[in-house]
Amino acid sequence: EPTQAAGQVVVIGSGLIGRSWAMVFAGGGFRVKLYDVVQQQITNALEYISKEMKELEKSGMLKGTLSAEKQLSLISGCTDLKTAVEGAMFIQECTPEKLELKKKIFGQLDLIVSNEVILSSSTSTLLPTKLFTGLKHVKQCIVAHPVNPPYYVPLVELVPHPETEPSTVDKTHALMKKIGQSPVKLTKEIDGFVLNRVQYAVISEAWRLVGEGVISPADLDLVMSDGLGMRYAFIGPLETMHLNAEGMTNYCERYREGMIHVLKTFGPVPDFSGEIEQQISQAMSEKTPADPEHLKARRAWRDECLMGLAKLKKQMKSN
Ligand code: NAI
Repeated sequence: EPTQAAGQVVVIGSGLIGRSWAMVFAGGGFRVKLYDVVQQQITNALEYISKEMKELEKSGMLKGTLSAEKQLSLISGCTDLKTAVEGAMFIQECTPEKLELKKKIFGQLDLIVSNEVILSSSTSTLLPTKLFTGLKHVKQCIVAHPVNPPYYVPLVELVPHPETEPSTVDKTHALMKKIGQSPVKLTKEIDGFVLNRVQYAVISEAWRLVGEGVISPADLDLVMSDGLGMRYAFIGPLETMHLNAEGMTNYCERYREGMIHVLKTFGPVPDFSGEIEQQISQAMSEKTPADPEHLKARRAWRDECLMGLAKLKKQMKSN
């Protein structure tokens, strides 16, 4: 018997990120309309999703409680925007990272949507004021920035426009929880959002350390993958401080001066070019040659690792 779907969502753009969102929403029991301007893209996406879901089911990693077959039956393709958004409660835009293109799409949506539906963008770099200012439905607009690959890395950054209604943020947060993602709320927009700001802080110090000849590129990466990263998969930097002393206050008492001393020795923003770039590029290519075949194989291995980690986190009920 056909189970009642949890609601209907629309995914706009059926590329890498759109496919993942479609799978995550279907895992949560939602009916998904996958919209794209290119019919072939939709066909490819549906084939890819079908194959992936069947494999995930075999390995016990399919999200949600429904079978792969049932989840697949919830997803359908669509090339007409008006038809796609009919009856939708949530729209997740996943088109290429081009401001003018995204603005055009939100402009089109603005003309055809109800006052209830939430308009959400997957953008990794474009600020809500650039995307949504001037829209009639700006109160219903939000950025929900996923992390690649969203099926295994659950974080979603929620970034409001100054005019986004608090209920839009709350509803999006609840929806993300419901489909098994891990949403975090930013109170206001900021360049790079939070994930990339933290990531760039790490990348820039890594770059400087290699550039100054303190450590090799391969060893630098080990500092994260066999060091910091081990704990960061379970606790963040702030909780690490709390646990590495007798609580946060004690940590600051003990390490405040030392941290400030070290931080003052950090160099300027690197230019990510020239000799250091060549050195790091060469070191990375020794391990994984930068051709499509090798990169694809290494990414597949990475995703498998992430799948295993997701499984472990679930077992450990980490949070
Ligand atoms: P992609 O290039 O794989 O997919 C884009 C899709 O949009 C294609 O299927 C294309 O046919 C479709 N498209 C183009 N114009 C369209 C239109 N007018 N209407 C509907 N569909 C249209 O791109 P990808 O990597 O999936 O990125 C999508 C968004 O997700 C970008 O904003 C990106 O910044 C963001 N994002 C990407 C991440 C990544 O690691 N790739 C991570 C987090 C966010």
